[in-house]
Amino acid sequence: MTDADAAPRSVGVVVVAAGSGTRLGAAVPKAFVRLAGRTLLSYAVERVVQVPGLASVVLVLPEGWLPGEPGYDHEISRHLPAGTAFVAGGAKRGDSVRNGLERLDPACDVVLIHDAARCLTPVSTFERVVAAVGAGAAGAVPGLPVVDTIKTVDAEGVITGTPDRAALRAVQTPQGFDAKVLRTAYASGLSATDDAALVELTGHHVRVVEGDPLAFKVTTPEDLAHAERIVAAGWSP
Ligand code: CTP
Ligand code: MG
Repeated sequence: MTDADAAPRSVGVVVVAAGSGTRLGAAVPKAFVRLAGRTLLSYAVERVVQVPGLASVVLVLPEGWLPGEPGYDHEISRHLPAGTAFVAGGAKRGDSVRNGLERLDPACDVVLIHDAARCLTPVSTFERVVAAVGAGAAGAVPGLPVVDTIKTVDAEGVITGTPDRAALRAVQTPQGFDAKVLRTAYASGLSATDDAALVELTGHHVRVVEGDPLAFKVTTPEDLAHAERIVAAGWSP
């Protein structure tokens, strides 16, 4: 059986959009910055609702930007399925994921965690992640080969090693997991830099599936300009 033949599962998606966007330096939280007139969050949500097997969506938003609050982006309501849950984020990304997981429908057996800042991630990337978890992987994340040579360095900047590039991947989101595995990882008290690393620490194998250059993260003003050029060139999901 190939990944593509996997039985459909009940998929829940947590979109983390509660960061402040310090490196972008805009006047509003990053997810609410506009790209050709629409928020980054609305582009992300437009893609999320096309995920195969989608049963539940949780949006993790900054305080002041939730439904009924002054910052709420009414544009996203057009796209969202009934029953979408909203929750305020926490101080760190991991806290925001945890808050989102707590609100996710417990009936979902596959969970995707997605950065709103990766607002142009194509639906096909979501599909590959869902297919891999549906086929039995504990976790699956999109990744791209690394083009630069990567060096490890010490505190003085002296190179300590040159990892084999063939064994490196730059990973993106959505990161997808068996729901029980991810919930157990978040209950473990361990901490890690991303959800995949947390799951790895609890002893599970996480697979890398093919990523997409369009799943890049808007981090700096240059990234936003890149996204603007892509949208201006007529990119559509
Ligand atoms: N995020 C979140 N809650 C946080 C921090 C980050 O929900 N406390 C989300 C962001 O909204 C973003 C994703 O996690 O969609 C990836 O984080 P990053 O790109 O680092 O966004 P920011 O933390 O907002 O940006 P910066 O680090 O430049 O402040
Ligand atoms: Mg950050």
